[in-house]
Amino acid sequence: MSTELANDLLLRTLMREPVPRTPVWIMRQAGRYLPEYRATRAQAGDFMSLCRNPELACEVTMQPLRRYALDAAILFSDILTVPDAMGLGLYFETGEGPKFERPVQTADAVRALKVPDVEKELGYVFEAVRTIRRELNGKVPLIGFAGSPFTVGTYMVEGGSSREFPTIRALAQESPEVLDHLMSLIAETTVEYLNAQIEAGAQAVQIFDTWGSALEPDDFRRFSLASMQRIVDGLIREKDGRKVPVILFTKGAGPLLEDLADTGCDALGVDWTTELADARRYVSDKVALQGNLNPATLRESPETIRAGVASTLASYGKGPGHVFNLGHGITPDIDPENLGVLVDAVHELSPAYHD
Ligand code: CP3
Repeated sequence: MSTELANDLLLRTLMREPVPRTPVWIMRQAGRYLPEYRATRAQAGDFMSLCRNPELACEVTMQPLRRYALDAAILFSDILTVPDAMGLGLYFETGEGPKFERPVQTADAVRALKVPDVEKELGYVFEAVRTIRRELNGKVPLIGFAGSPFTVGTYMVEGGSSREFPTIRALAQESPEVLDHLMSLIAETTVEYLNAQIEAGAQAVQIFDTWGSALEPDDFRRFSLASMQRIVDGLIREKDGRKVPVILFTKGAGPLLEDLADTGCDALGVDWTTELADARRYVSDKVALQGNLNPATLRESPETIRAGVASTLASYGKGPGHVFNLGHGITPDIDPENLGVLVDAVHELSPAYHD
């Protein structure tokens, strides 16, 4: 496979190297706000059939790149393919989000879990990565991803989406060593899963920790941070003579960004509840930062979107190490034209922040 990359702004920025402008990609950039995504999903039948079909997963990965001047592609898949591979039986009911046929709710159920053979159970993901790399042909880098063990664990234990996480919180209180064991199993599986994505061609990886900050800081460190640390320690960090940067995104991390920066990751995602200027102080410029415009801004006028881009760039300030993104995924109700306004504004306004 060719390793030439026409646009390596993202990879250079994640390593805090100087660049002429700020790179931009968007969490959930392939998704329901795009009519062409909805058409391809209908062609596949449903969301999981789309994930399991490498040609169609490649097609939806490419769709946002045809519309917008984005600096990266992100693999089309889901964080819940990992517990599915562990035998929990993932399914989606329309309008209800993800569910598991066999949630893991007792100590015995946790002890019965095994690290799956990722090549066998998740080969369709690695095939999608290879297909997307061929199709990208060096245009922009491809980001692979997985969920954090705690975030994935919330779905495994609660059996689906949750607001308050009663079952996993009870486990943390009453049998913390059982939850430690669950975190280790998911971390071990995730190391194999992400390393196989990297072997297949992923050029950077992101760990989505959507729910870690629902824990009290000490529990966050014990369950979410420690298990992400195990992943960072186990990942392939260089391939074909180029670094493979690791991005950790704990939504709502706030001052815990300081702990996250000490894991040895290359970059941290930041949501809109922390100013990038403050985030930069928390991490003492040890890592690159990615974010953090409120996704709700995309519902506003073009002028308001441009002003949001301008203030996000100004908050990070001058110098390398900022990847523009939203503070969380783009939502299905957004007008696709508005994302174009955002991307164009980053191209236009960001060179002033680089020498
Ligand atoms: O960013 C991308 O374009 C890549 C694809 C991607 C998806 N899910 C596709 C998807 C990524 C990176 C994810 C991550 C993910 N999945 C997270 C972490 C990030 C976050 O948003 O907090 C979580 C918690 C999940 C679990 C999940 N998957 C939920 C809760 C749902 C249903 C609710 C929702 O947001 O729609 C999904 C389904 C899902 N994953 C969809 C997509 C495009 C929508 C399914 C559909 O098309 O019907």
